[in-house]
Parts: sequence; structure tokens; C-alpha cells
Amino acid sequence: MARVVTLVSGKGGVGKTTISSNLGVILNSLGKKTIIVDGNITTPNLSFHLGVPLYPVTLHDVLKGKANIKDALYIHPSGLGLIPGGIGIDDLEDIDLSKLPNSLRKLDNDADIILLDGAAGLGKEALKSIEVADDVIIITNPDLPSVTEALKVKKISEEYGKNVVGVIVNRVKRNKAELTSEEIENMLELPILGKIPEDPTVIKSIHMKMPVVNFSPYSPSSMAIRKLGADLVGEEFRMGGVGFFQKLINWLRK
Ligand SMILES: Nc1ncnc2c1ncn2[C@@H]1O[C@H](COP(=O)(O)OP(=O)(O)O)[C@@H](O)[C@H]1O
Ligand SMILES: [Mg+2]
Repeated sequence: MARVVTLVSGKGGVGKTTISSNLGVILNSLGKKTIIVDGNITTPNLSFHLGVPLYPVTLHDVLKGKANIKDALYIHPSGLGLIPGGIGIDDLEDIDLSKLPNSLRKLDNDADIILLDGAAGLGKEALKSIEVADDVIIITNPDLPSVTEALKVKKISEEYGKNVVGVIVNRVKRNKAELTSEEIENMLELPILGKIPEDPTVIKSIHMKMPVVNFSPYSPSSMAIRKLGADLVGEEFRMGGVGFFQKLINWLRK
């Protein structure tokens, strides 16, 4: 039985897609078979982060009742499974979000973890991605607007009876203007699972349509995400351990 782990935030643009795609690659490389699902129904963009070519069957076809979710499963070169969203405007017609829970359950034997890259805010699609979750992880930036919005999402998730595991703080610059770990933990009453630094390599990697953990595994953001993944599965973080896909990328980048 796969665990559905949804990454949510109140505020948009805090790094849900960046973290879910990279965390997905890491969890998968640590032996937890992972499938990542684009829960941004109106504005899907996960495939751009992972460099997925236009895919014939998408989550939108599944939510229209036109396809089985297994036919929308794309395997990224890193081995991570991905259910992309359709990017055309026509894709949005006749979508039935209530098909999501049963569709995800069909992947139970294909994964240990289904990571759902949720939509921002508290709209219909964001709420649905919380509703289908076994566990919820909140992403925030270390500033008051994002932490305030994160608190709303935490409360809603608890109202839905979900296990809110903790919070990932992204784009940490370590300057005096930002909230400290202690302040964030006190405001949200949640443990910080990981802190990802502000890192220009993330922007470069998105431009290259590649997860930063593959694009530049020793960059500060990659190291933090690799440590986060290891912590989540209860393994000690090791600097080494690059797989075949990584070796290929390193070779291509020479
Ligand atoms: N750790 C980081 N360092 C630098 N830039 C980042 C970092 N995380 C995210 N970004 C930037 O923020 C943008 C928004 O991130 P994204 O993952 O798309 O957020 P969300 O999915 O929450 O809307 C990315 O396109 C990237 O440019
Ligand atoms: Mg996103």
C-alpha cells in the first residue's frame, strides 16, 4: 500500500514543485519506490521541472474518465515515476476531481510513496490534494506572509484529520530580516524537517529542466534536500552514493 504524502503551502511560489521533484528523486534513489503526481490541476508545471517531453496521457485524461492512471505513468531517467498534468486549455474541460482518490489507489502496488505536488492556497484542488493525503508536509519560506498562510493550511489539514508531519523551510538566506527556526516552529507548532538554502543553482537547474540534485548534487540546496530525504527515510546522510543516471549526467557535463 503506497503512502500518499502531499506537499502543501498556503502561499504560492514558495518551492513546492522544486522540493517535491527533487525529494522524489532522492527518496526513489534511497530505495523507496516513488511516484510524483502533479496536483496543480489548473496550472500543472511539474513536467517542466523534470524535463518530461509532451506526454500523450496525463492526469487530466484520468480525471475526465478517459484513461487509466497507469497509462499516465511516465518514468523519469532517474527512475522516479511521474504522473504529469495536461498543459492545454482544453485539458481543463470536464475535469472531475472526485476521481482523484480512487485513481491514486490504483498505484498502490506500483509505489511505496506517492508524492503529491499540491496546489497553493485553499481552493478546490488544494483541498482535494489534502483530502487524499495520508501525510501532509508544509512548505514555507522564512517570512511572515508565507508562515501565516502555512498556518491556515496546517489547521485545515488537521480538520481533515491528516497527519501533518512537519514543515520544510525553503529559500533560507540566513539574514536578519527572516524568521528564525525557533519562531517558525513556535508559530506553526510543527517540527522543521529540513531547511533548504537560497541557491542560484536551483534556478539554473530549472532552466535546464533537471532536478537540482541531479544537475549539481553537491550544491548547497542539493545537499540539504539529500539530507532531508535521508532523514525522512531514517538513513544516515552520505555524501557519495551517486547512481548510474548521475554518472551519466556528470559525464555529459564534462
Ligand atoms: N532554494 C531555492 N533557491 C533559489 N530559488 C528557488 C529555491 N526554491 C525555489 N526557487 C525559485 O522559486 C521558484 C518557484 O518555486 P516552485 O517550486 O515553482 O514553487 P511552488 O511550486 O510552491 O509554486 C522557482 O522557479 C525557482 O526559481
Ligand atoms: Mg508548483
